[in-house]
Amino acid sequence: MTSITIALSKGRIFDDTAPLLKAAGIVALDDPETSRKLILTTNRDDVRLIIVRASDVPTYVQYGAADMGIAGKDVLLEHGGAGLYQPLDLNIARCRMMVAVRDDFDYESAVRRGARLRVATKYLQTAREHFAEKGMHVDLIKLYGSMELAPLVGLADAIVDLVSSGNTLRANSLKAVEEITPISARLVINQAALKLKRKTIHPMLEAFSTAIAKQGN
Ligand code: PRP
Repeated sequence: MTSITIALSKGRIFDDTAPLLKAAGIVALDDPETSRKLILTTNRDDVRLIIVRASDVPTYVQYGAADMGIAGKDVLLEHGGAGLYQPLDLNIARCRMMVAVRDDFDYESAVRRGARLRVATKYLQTAREHFAEKGMHVDLIKLYGSMELAPLVGLADAIVDLVSSGNTLRANSLKAVEEITPISARLVINQAALKLKRKTIHPMLEAFSTAIAKQGN
C-alpha cells in the first residue's frame, strides 16, 4: 500500500486543518497538544502525520521526508518554494504581513525623506523584497520572535510581522502602516511524490478542495 506522510505544525494550523483532514477521511489518533509524539498515526493505515516547527514544513516536503504538508504563506515566501508543488490555498490561519512602527513614529515622513530605517523581523526575505520594491534602503535585523518589542526599546524603527486581530500591536503602542501581503495556509506537495503517489494523493486533493469550497460558503 502507498503510504503518505503529511507534515503539520501544532497550534492553529493543526486545529484549522483537522476538519479538512476529516473531510478527506483522515483523523489523527493522538492530539499533538497533549501527546509528546512527533509521528501521529491516523485512522488510515496508509496515512501518518508528522509534527514539525511551522518554518520547517517546506524543508521536510522539499526533501521528500514528508509527501505533503501545510504551511503558512509567510513560511513559504521565506523558503522560496523550491521542489514544492502548491496546488491549494486552504484559506485557513488567515492574517496579514504588515509593516508596523511606534504610535508616535511618522513613517510616511521618514519614507518621503528617504530615511534609512532599521527594520526588525523574522521574515528577512519578504522584508528585503518589499523595501527594495519601494526603493527604500533599510537595515534588516533578524529576530526569532517578540518583534513588537524592538521599536519600544530602540532596537529598530519598524518591524515586519504577522498581524491577525491587531491586539499585540495595540497592547504595545504600535500601529500598522503598510500591508505587505495577505497570508493564509497552503497545501504543499513534494513534486516527485505527486507523480509517484498520484492515485492516493489526488483523491485527498479533491476532498480538500471540496471542503474548502464548502467552508467558503
Ligand atoms: C503572531 C505574530 C504577532 C501576533 C499577532 O505571533 O508574530 O506577534 O501573532 O496576532 P494579533 O494581531 O492577533 O495580536 P504568534 O503568537 O503566532 O507567535 P510567534 O511570535 O511565535 O510567531
